[in-house]
Amino acid sequence: MDKMTTASLAKMKREGKKFASLTAYDTSFAAAFAAQGVPVLLIGDSLGMVLQGADDTLKVTVEEIAYHTRCVSKGAPNALVIADMPFMSYATPEQTYQNAAELIRAGAQMVKLEGGDWLLETVRGLTQRSVPVCAHLGLTPQSVHVFGGFKVQGRSEEAAQAILDQALRLQDAGAAMLVLECVPTELARRVTEALTIPVIGIGAGPHTDGQILVMHDLLGISSGYIPKFSKNYLALTGNIHAAVAAYVEEVEHGRFPSPEHSFS
Ligand code: KIV
Ligand code: NA
Repeated sequence: MDKMTTASLAKMKREGKKFASLTAYDTSFAAAFAAQGVPVLLIGDSLGMVLQGADDTLKVTVEEIAYHTRCVSKGAPNALVIADMPFMSYATPEQTYQNAAELIRAGAQMVKLEGGDWLLETVRGLTQRSVPVCAHLGLTPQSVHVFGGFKVQGRSEEAAQAILDQALRLQDAGAAMLVLECVPTELARRVTEALTIPVIGIGAGPHTDGQILVMHDLLGISSGYIPKFSKNYLALTGNIHAAVAAYVEEVEHGRFPSPEHSFS
């Protein structure tokens, strides 16, 4: 795999080529995913849940994301490595710049932030300071207590329009990518068509430019609640390399996610 960059992913969007991405937290899995052609790896704050056993992502620290980012970037030097900025690590400009710098030094090429209009200045400031930003709209898990649970977002026409408007403004502010989580398929299609930057979906239907899954969901080893949008590729294939290859293949050909893994 050639070195993946925000530019190469933007080119894939223009050419209508869909891409798969996964979360990763360590060197060995990162290398295995890259070897199967996964171009984008995210050190998600989902690590609070899948590695640390918490009920939500809120307790994860910048130091923890930085540690796992160092591990992942060593294993997959050619992947585009995105690090999540954890809860409250981008509340003020000073905090944001210092914490983003720590994640870039750890090996990330992009940071991801959850939120809409309140982040426009932050996105602009980071981009001006040479840190590419991936925005994240829809079900933003750091807001779980505001939402009152992990719920599909953007179901009403008004809420859908608000997400579309925020996506456009984030792009104008400089965001180079967008994650859309748990929104109706039709809204994700509208956002993907309206934006020139790549849109990566999770629980957002098949029309986004890319897809992402938490690696533990792809392998069917998440404990407890299994989200509707996840698919156990290990059960289908019997080994980890084949599971990742099957996921990549299905995403690239638009076969994953199917309606049973999406919200209407
Ligand atoms: O933390 C995470 O793993 C994420 C993805 C699910 C998009 O933010
Ligand atoms: Na996250």
